[in-house]
Amino acid sequence: MVRETVVSPADLVMPLFIHAGKDRTAPIKAMPGISRITADLAVRECVELYRLGIPAVLLFGIPDSKDAKGSGAWDKNGVVQNAVRAIKKEVPAMVVITDVCLCEYTSHGHCGVVHKEKVLNDPTLDLLARMAVSHAQAGADIVAPSDMMDGRVGFLRKKLDTAGFIDTSILAYSAKYASAFYGPFRDAADSAPSFGDRASYQMDPANAREAMREVRLDIEEGADMVMVKPALAYLDIIRRIRDSFDVPLAAYNVSGEYSMVKAAGAQKLLDEKRTTLEVLTAIKRAGADIIITYHAREAASWLTRKG
Ligand code: PBG
Repeated sequence: MVRETVVSPADLVMPLFIHAGKDRTAPIKAMPGISRITADLAVRECVELYRLGIPAVLLFGIPDSKDAKGSGAWDKNGVVQNAVRAIKKEVPAMVVITDVCLCEYTSHGHCGVVHKEKVLNDPTLDLLARMAVSHAQAGADIVAPSDMMDGRVGFLRKKLDTAGFIDTSILAYSAKYASAFYGPFRDAADSAPSFGDRASYQMDPANAREAMREVRLDIEEGADMVMVKPALAYLDIIRRIRDSFDVPLAAYNVSGEYSMVKAAGAQKLLDEKRTTLEVLTAIKRAGADIIITYHAREAASWLTRKG
């Protein structure tokens, strides 16, 4: 009766890693319990997630082949585009969010166009817009740019509108830190940069005021929702943004945060269920409306089970 914060399955978003083909599952070593799956299996997964009360999924694509520009990213029949169409056909009420970033599609693993080992901001925007429009054409409800290039939200909004997708929302990864907690994801998406790091476009973990600036710019450019990522080491950032802005706020409980709990749980160092629910409650208490978490499916079944 006096509890101030209640996590429910309706707060959760489940990320899915999609690869090509049919009925093929490839477990991700660095993320126990998570696999790369094909579009048909993603549809089945969505039926189950929806039954558990999870309203949305976030799709990442792992293409069969990569190149310097990441051209698989805007292929009409790319892995994500096919999965979006299949999910929206079979589970139309499931909100489909797509990750818009080139790093899963580029041979060098960076999130933008590379010239002489430098990531170029402006030439990247065109490619991101092609990707976002192709996701919208496939039926995505929300596109989520995670690249951290400057000016991308306004650019994508304009290109989406021009292409007729005035109702496609933008969830901006506004405060995305250059974090060690993304380690397992880069194994999952095979997207570790082949040289250098992402510190020239992702944020310094030491900076909080900069996060406010990034959020303000994204909202001015047309972001419908903003995100803080990772979540656990950045609860103060979530709180600050919640106190200063009134758009929906998402927090990404990233791969490293997930795998830490899984690994400790498997070794019986921690109680996985209690730890997970405590983490999710803390993220919500800090001010997040939406929690993107690899624990979504398990957490939803824990939360809905009676007794
Ligand atoms: C792509 C992207 C990353 C994540 C989401 N989108 C990786 C990165 O920036 O290297 C990380 C998600 C996670 O760790 O769970 N730019």
